[in-house]
Amino acid sequence: MSMSSSSDGLSPDTTPSIVVPDAPSLRTDASPVAASHTPAPVTRAAAPGGVPDPAPAAETPLPGRPLPRVIAVANQKGGVGKTTTTVNLGACLAELGFRTLVIDLDPQGNASTGLGIENRGLDTSMYHVIMHDVPLEDCVEPSAVKNLFVAPASLDLAGAEIELVPAFSRENRLRRAIESVLDDYDYVLIDCPPSLGLLTVNGLNAATEVLVPIQCEYYALEGLGQLLRNVDLVKRNLNPRLEVSTIVCVMYDARTKLADQVVHEVREHFGEKVCRTVVPRTVRLSEAPSFGQPIITFDPTSRGAVAYREVAKEVSRGSTRRSG
Ligand SMILES: Nc1ncnc2c1ncn2[C@@H]1O[C@H](COP(=O)(O)OP(=O)(O)OP(=O)(O)O)[C@@H](O)[C@H]1O
Ligand SMILES: [Mg+2]
Repeated sequence: MSMSSSSDGLSPDTTPSIVVPDAPSLRTDASPVAASHTPAPVTRAAAPGGVPDPAPAAETPLPGRPLPRVIAVANQKGGVGKTTTTVNLGACLAELGFRTLVIDLDPQGNASTGLGIENRGLDTSMYHVIMHDVPLEDCVEPSAVKNLFVAPASLDLAGAEIELVPAFSRENRLRRAIESVLDDYDYVLIDCPPSLGLLTVNGLNAATEVLVPIQCEYYALEGLGQLLRNVDLVKRNLNPRLEVSTIVCVMYDARTKLADQVVHEVREHFGEKVCRTVVPRTVRLSEAPSFGQPIITFDPTSRGAVAYREVAKEVSRGSTRRSG
C-alpha cells in the first residue's frame, strides 16, 4: 500500500537544490494563524540535540482556533510520518487536557496498533462506520493515555476504497460519522492512508484543517503540489472551510545539510503554517509503536517526546480546553 519514500542513497554532503515546481504558494492565505504571526526566521541553528532551537514565542498570545477542531493528517507519500505524528500529537494534546480522538483511516491500522489497540478480529472498526453506517461511538476505544481515544482501522478498510466507488454519498461518510460525536471531543485527528483515493477524500471532507508532515529528506516536497491541488479540489467542490493549517517538518537529522535545506525551503514556501518545532529522527520514536505506546509514555523525556509536546503546544496555542 505504501508508496516508497525516495530518500535512499543520499550522502550527507549532497546538497541539491530543492524545488516545488507544482506547489502553489499558500503564503497569501489570510487564515487566523497566518495573519497573526510575525514572520519566522527562515533558518535556525541546530541545537546539540539535533533539533533547531524553537524561535522565541510571539509576545502577544494568538487567538486560538475554536474547538472542536477536526484535523486530517495527510500526505500521499508513504512513510513520511503521518501516523507517528497523528499518534504522538494526539497523545500530547490529550496530555495537555484536550479530549482527543484519533481516527485511523488507513487499512494498515498503524495508528491503532501504535496506541495499543489490537485491530485483528475487531467487531466494529472504521470499515463498519464508513461502509455500514455503524455509529462512530460504537467503534471508539479508550487508549492507555487519559483523554485519548481511538477509532481503529482493520484490513477490511482496504476494501472500502473500492466498495465506496458506487456508493451513495460516498465522500460524506466520515463527515457524517464525525458530526455525531463531535460534541465529545476537543480534537479529532484523522490518520489518512498514503494515497489520494476515496478514503483520503473522506478524511479531507470531514476535516476543517489539514496537517501535512514533511520528511526532511531528498524528494520530500515531491508530490506536494498534487496534495495541495487535491485539498483545493475538495475545498471547492465539497468542503469550503478546508485549509492547510499546519506543516510539521519531521525526521530531521542534524548531521545532514540537506535536512536544514529542506526546512528552509518548506518555510520559504509555507511561511507561518510551518511549526517552529522540528521533530528529530530518533530511534525511540520508531521503537514506540511496537510497544503500542506513544512516545510520551514509552520514553517521556526523550527528544521525540519533547518535540511532539512542543508541536502540540503550537497546534493548540490559544485554545481553551473544554475537558479536564
Ligand atoms: N521522527 C522519527 N524518527 C525516527 N523514525 C521515525 C520518525 N517518524 C517516523 N518514523 C518511522 O518511520 C516509519 C514511517 O513513519 P509513519 O508510519 O509514521 O509514516 P506514514 O506516513 O504514516 O506511513 P504510511 O504512508 O505507510 O502510512 C515508521 O517506521 C516510523 O516508526
Ligand atoms: Mg501511516
